[in-house]
Amino acid sequence: MASTPLPPATAPAQGPTTVVIDLGDRSYDIVIGEGLLDSPDFFSGLPKASKALIVTNTTVGPLYTAKLRQALTPHYKAVLDIELPDGEQYKDWPALNQIFTALLEQAADRKTVLFALGGGVVGDMTGFAAACYMRGVPFVQVPTTLLAQVDSSVGGKTAINHPAGKNMIGAFYQPQRVLCDLTTLDTLPQRELLAGLAEVIKYGPIADTEFFSWLETNLDKLLSRDREALKYAVKRSCEIKAWVVGQDEKESGLRAILNYGHTFGHAIESGLGYGEWLHGEAVGCGMVMAADLSARLGLIDTTTAQRIQALIARAGLPIRGPNLGADRYLELMQVDKKAEGGEIRFVVIGPMGQATMQGAPESLVRDVIAAHTC
Ligand code: NAD
Ligand code: GLY
Repeated sequence: MASTPLPPATAPAQGPTTVVIDLGDRSYDIVIGEGLLDSPDFFSGLPKASKALIVTNTTVGPLYTAKLRQALTPHYKAVLDIELPDGEQYKDWPALNQIFTALLEQAADRKTVLFALGGGVVGDMTGFAAACYMRGVPFVQVPTTLLAQVDSSVGGKTAINHPAGKNMIGAFYQPQRVLCDLTTLDTLPQRELLAGLAEVIKYGPIADTEFFSWLETNLDKLLSRDREALKYAVKRSCEIKAWVVGQDEKESGLRAILNYGHTFGHAIESGLGYGEWLHGEAVGCGMVMAADLSARLGLIDTTTAQRIQALIARAGLPIRGPNLGADRYLELMQVDKKAEGGEIRFVVIGPMGQATMQGAPESLVRDVIAAHTC
């Protein structure tokens, strides 16, 4: 599926480091470093506009809006902000509409730049609002969770949830820049850090066995928020995501590997009701289930599946799903975006470091659900 080899890992330079998303005239930089919000310099060179709108939520706003406003003030005549309610359950039409209302009430024109300040929920909604408002205004991602820094802020997938399916309403729409300020992770609750680690771990089995080994060795440093370890993990994750998205921006093939663990995971999230389990927790458990499915399909040996499960468990993530009943899992998984003609398709590993997408006999899927639910 991949046509170019994954670029080798390199040690991050001192100070901020940049990963480029290469998409022709929609290319952009992901800047990773400490204290980015403290300097207006990182916000220069964006499309010119008189207004900027910071979109954040009621948790992140009080922590970081003032800093971001200060960094943006030299670049815009007016810096506006809006705080959305916090939570996956608010990744919906009413919250999205709040962004449109704020833009319209402030007479925002089509040059207005939106800044998504927060985790993946804020990022996905702000990106979707930017894609829709006046048929498209520029936006910048300022991710403040580990999950958003390593995954959701990168690659231009934007969406809201529908009660019948997660991320079902959305658009591909690339940001102008991604600014990952590692300092913002200091205030992140530990449970959210662990959820972010799920998306970091994902990159090993699907693309990079060396990175998986690095994670096995350095997990304790990540759990204790060692800045250098976090910087390396964010950089390597973004490099792998950039490599995938650069080859398949709109998910006609390869990009689907980024959904490893997500078929089972989305079923857990929507089956329990959004916000019950964190997205990363559901993905972590989903990766355990998808690794087991890969072993049952004969694509990896059980030792490899257990190795993946062991790292996920060490990261403090759940490895057993809720007992929704196999029928309900199957029903929910049919709504997954990867399903084709009613057939559920799974990202499977085989060999370690490579992933493909395929269907699986229902009996095997039922066996996996039985083996990995409470
Ligand atoms: P989130 O956005 O809900 O943030 C998690 C929690 O941490 C929230 O309560 C938030 O207010 C809080 N928070 C954020 N930054 C903080 C900080 N620095 N200090 C203290 N608290 C902070 O969740 P998330 O895990 O960042 O993102 C999950 C979402 O991302 C899901 O909706 C998922 O579907 C989406 N996602 C999208 C993509 C994509 O490619 N677009 C990829 C992966 C996940
Ligand atoms: N997180 C899945 C993707 O960006 O494609």
